[in-house]
Amino acid sequence: MLYNFSHTGDFEMKATTFFGLEELLEGELKKLGAKNTQPFKRGVSFTGDLGFLYKANLCLRTALKILIPIHSFKANNNDSFYEGINEIAWEKFITYNDTLKIECVVNSDNFDHSLFMAQKAKDAIVDRFRKRYGKRPSVDLVFPTLRIYIHIFRDEISVSIDSSGELLYKRGYRTDTNKAPINEILGAALVMLSNWQPHQLLIDGMCGSGTIAIEAALYANNIPPGIFRKEFAFMRWKNYDQALFDLITESAVAKIKENDLNIIANDIYEPTLKKMMVNLKNAKLEDIIQISNKSFFDISTEKKSGVIILNPPYGERIEKQEITQFYKEIGDKLKKDFSGFTCWIITSSMEGFKNIGLRPTRKITLFNGSLECKYLKYELYEGSKKGKYISNSSDSGN
Ligand SMILES: C[S@@+](CC[C@H](N)C(=O)[O-])C[C@H]1O[C@@H](n2cnc3c(N)ncnc32)[C@H](O)[C@@H]1O
Repeated sequence: MLYNFSHTGDFEMKATTFFGLEELLEGELKKLGAKNTQPFKRGVSFTGDLGFLYKANLCLRTALKILIPIHSFKANNNDSFYEGINEIAWEKFITYNDTLKIECVVNSDNFDHSLFMAQKAKDAIVDRFRKRYGKRPSVDLVFPTLRIYIHIFRDEISVSIDSSGELLYKRGYRTDTNKAPINEILGAALVMLSNWQPHQLLIDGMCGSGTIAIEAALYANNIPPGIFRKEFAFMRWKNYDQALFDLITESAVAKIKENDLNIIANDIYEPTLKKMMVNLKNAKLEDIIQISNKSFFDISTEKKSGVIILNPPYGERIEKQEITQFYKEIGDKLKKDFSGFTCWIITSSMEGFKNIGLRPTRKITLFNGSLECKYLKYELYEGSKKGKYISNSSDSGN
């Protein structure tokens, strides 16, 4: 039983994320009320109580999972690894009637691959139960009582309980996607990094399954991204407090805003938009986001300012020559029709990026899964920036 997580006491947790999103995640955590936040590579550690653990799972937009570290030790070989895992008082967390699932991430030359190490850890745990009680917990890869996460870095072994289960980007609204959907966490991060404000126009100009537009609407109206999920790993723990989770959910729902938003999700390809409409419905945003089925090159607006986020096709499905031309046309379109706007483009195509023909004012390295991307900011001033802010002597009337 998880009796060491009391309702009132604080304990340490770790939220993991993609490379480059640590600062955003820390900002989110602080805003939610986390204590002692401390960023590390691809994550942020913090403290909070059981209610905060539920809240973090429900409300964080840029977290992959929330872990509770329970033990760490040094090991150089399989035997010392087995010993270290075997020594943990697992009977505090589960009984022999329960089930477990172990995920192991190995970043060390001293050890075998992750599946082998997960197997080794499982042996160490079940042997402990067998020795003490003559019975052992079994493995359940789908709905285990306890998910254990082991990280091996050189000779340092960190053992945590995974409170999330399926990664938190699996929000529950995206049932249908096109071929190259952006990860939901990244979608939310792109919106937050763009500094778009809910009163402004936002154009997701090549929206595919609509992830960026959907994440923007959830963010702007403070809708918890986890509200559509049916399952978090903590719901299977012995100490799961349904009433507390309901309270946390109700309080998060009470903070939802109903801003009138001006978000356009546009894609050239109609079948993709049909899939997006299903996702919009799932996210209860079908009346909030406007859908447009045009080439981005044919979009026009009366508005004099706003934010455009583009996730154009990457190189894989387009010839190099076409990429060069496509990105050049994006740059030309932005210059011609969107002065006064800020445009952000996420791409892994360096070839494309070089051909936009505009100078980015910010360049951020991000990852869409394992794919390295650049997120580029273009400020589209009317005329030159200098011309806008510095009038020359002939203009000044002297
Ligand atoms: C990388 S995908 C976008 C993925 C999207 N962010 C998502 O989460 O699903 C690129 C999209 O650009 C669209 N596209 C390609 N050329 C276009 C154009 N000229 N105008 C608008 N959309 C275009 C494709 O149909 C495709 O859906």
